[in-house]
Amino acid sequence: MKDTPPEAPLLFTPIKLRSVTARNRIVSSPMCQYLSDDGGPEEWQLVNFGRFAMGGCGIVFGEETAVEARGRKTHHCAGIYRDSHVPSYRRISDFIRAQGAVPAIQLGHCGRRASQHGPLQGRAALTEAERPWQGIAPSALPPTPGGAIPREMDLSDIRATLAAWRAATQRSVDAGYEICEIHGAHGYLIHQFLSPLSNRRSDAYGGSLENRMRYALEVVDAVRSVWPNELPLFFRTSAVEGPGGVWGIDETLTLARELKARGVDVVDCSSGGIGISAGGDGTLPAIPRVPGFQAGYAREIRRETGLPTVAVGMISDARHAETILREGHADLIALARGLMDDPNWPLHAARELGCTDPLGLVHEREAQRLRLLERHRVQYPPGSAVEIPFATDEQVSYSWSTGISGSRVRR
Ligand SMILES: Cc1cc2nc3c(=O)[nH]c(=O)nc-3n(C[C@H](O)[C@H](O)[C@H](O)COP(=O)(O)O)c2cc1C
Repeated sequence: MKDTPPEAPLLFTPIKLRSVTARNRIVSSPMCQYLSDDGGPEEWQLVNFGRFAMGGCGIVFGEETAVEARGRKTHHCAGIYRDSHVPSYRRISDFIRAQGAVPAIQLGHCGRRASQHGPLQGRAALTEAERPWQGIAPSALPPTPGGAIPREMDLSDIRATLAAWRAATQRSVDAGYEICEIHGAHGYLIHQFLSPLSNRRSDAYGGSLENRMRYALEVVDAVRSVWPNELPLFFRTSAVEGPGGVWGIDETLTLARELKARGVDVVDCSSGGIGISAGGDGTLPAIPRVPGFQAGYAREIRRETGLPTVAVGMISDARHAETILREGHADLIALARGLMDDPNWPLHAARELGCTDPLGLVHEREAQRLRLLERHRVQYPPGSAVEIPFATDEQVSYSWSTGISGSRVRR
């Protein structure tokens, strides 16, 4: 009887999305750095996102990148609202591509969550001396109880932001990105329109679910009208909006069907944002933070809409990631903190899952040396006793578990 070869891990099976093929299913999830200078990325971003490509990820996102300056949370958030930003993003996308990963950009607009400090300063509101600006939102409701009141968007504001989404998308094309994700989650502008807790409008953009989805879908149309047909478009959703929220999975399924009809290729399944801390007074309980806590949302959306999904959230064990894919919960696995902890996570996962050539994931410059290291490890397994030469006619016995034994001995 012939031995059947072991099945290749799904995590390391390439995936084709429109014309783009990622070498594996591992995604470096979007991560805000709060280190941009007037929007544009710096050395930090090149090194930080570059290391995830070098470590073997299939797809590498940067950070939430604002489509207009007032859509940033802080003075130091990333943005792509000027043509002059393009070359600095191009440098990063070229580097990521050169390492074999697909460069991806997440476009966003924070809406009412504007004019803050970053997380290291507790997201405190900017003072008068710190050049604050007024956020815009579907309704004039503060982002947190007692927080700054945003200006309610009129139709010309809505049109202006849609033009900004279009222009930022064109710049993302010019900057060499191959995947674009619309940030529709986490209590930012699109989510503020979706949730009845932050959207109290009585016009065509508020009230019914259909009306509350209008802005999100107009953004998708705006982005898709510019984003090339051959390139995939992702949408990040808060599948369930977290404690104090009201939006749940059924609303997300309705939204996902509309996204699919408008050319969204993948739903990235996150959660939260309109919680109690963001003024939410709904009745949704907290989502327990356990490994894969959002994978159930990814499964439901995948099963009900047929759209490929991304599972994200405290996934850091390679076998767990593989199980999520094998059980059909998702098509891609995203990590944020797991990659901060171990930028070479894909390489280590490939070893753990028994891939035939884990080192094929890293640059040949590193792989060649690491292969040599592996050969040495096989040649001298742990505990081997060896003779270390001290001179042509002298040696000492050595074992790295017990150290040097004895003294210099003449051969
Ligand atoms: C430092 C940091 C920055 C983040 N910034 C973003 C962001 O810009 N956009 C976004 O959608 N999510 C952002 N997130 C959320 C992550 O993409 C991810 O969904 C979340 O951290 C859960 O994954 P994890 O458990 O693997 O960290 C950020 C997370 C971290 C840790």
